[in-house]
Amino acid sequence: MGRFDGKVVLITGAGSGMGRAVALRLAGEGARVFGIDVSVDGLAGTAKRVSEAGGAMQTGICDVSRRDDCFAAVDACIAAFGRLDVLANVAGILRVAHAHEMPQRDWDQVIGVNLSGPFFMSQAALPRLLESRGNIVNVASNAGLMGQAYTAAYCASKAGLVSLTKSLAMEYVKRGIRINCVCPAGTQTALTASAKFPSDVDPQLMMRYSGFRGMSQPDEIAAVIAFVASDEAGSMHGSIVQADQGVTAG
Ligand SMILES: NC(=O)c1ccc[n+]([C@@H]2O[C@H](COP(=O)([O-])OP(=O)(O)OC[C@H]3O[C@@H](n4cnc5c(N)ncnc54)[C@H](O)[C@@H]3O)[C@@H](O)[C@H]2O)c1
Repeated sequence: MGRFDGKVVLITGAGSGMGRAVALRLAGEGARVFGIDVSVDGLAGTAKRVSEAGGAMQTGICDVSRRDDCFAAVDACIAAFGRLDVLANVAGILRVAHAHEMPQRDWDQVIGVNLSGPFFMSQAALPRLLESRGNIVNVASNAGLMGQAYTAAYCASKAGLVSLTKSLAMEYVKRGIRINCVCPAGTQTALTASAKFPSDVDPQLMMRYSGFRGMSQPDEIAAVIAFVASDEAGSMHGSIVQADQGVTAG
């Protein structure tokens, strides 16, 4: 028996990194997974691995910064599997720059994907989750809990997601669903591998959020997300769970 037997899980950002790891983990624990992403290749890669491991996954292209896409994705998930038990808002992007030099396009994209995306997905999914008494797990970041140099838009988007989690948790506190947030810090994924910092950063300013224990692996974060999404975490609602190697402890 798996913790997610009979459950349907919709995962954003399922084409890479943590989203892929969550898809593999939850499918391995019995979930039927509907994975969405902007990357066709990424989704195909995840679906192949889930299938090779004996799991069930269907996919859909969705840009979570577009409200219509989000509603269409939830409809497609229901058409595929007939129900929805867990929404995992994992998709996210990082843009790095001196704050005074960041183009508006980058600011808008980061807020659009990292904050508006989870809100639109929640709007679309909530009626279904109220039916199934399901739950939402948002993936924010240590960047949502502390100030970080050179990533102002990212920090603002993730702090907004922390606040969105708590706000929705309060609004739906009497409705039988759960809404929580996991905050990883540095994790070995494409997002960190492709981050390009300006050549003239002050490394001292980055030490506060670099930590002392190195980076996490995506499957370590997926294990935390799986627990929060499972019935074992029935008492967790409105929780902001750090999985950050101690970065925000000091
Ligand atoms: N990697 C880290 O160090 C780290 C630390 C803390 C929090 N996070 C957060 O974890 C989450 C997962 O990040 P990751 O590290 O696995 O990154 P990743 O780049 O490996 O995966 C992100 C996925 O999101 C998808 N995506 C991007 N824009 C999208 C959009 N508009 N609509 C739908 N999908 C979109 C990408 O195609 C990609 O498949 C993000 O929310 C990120 O902010 C990452």
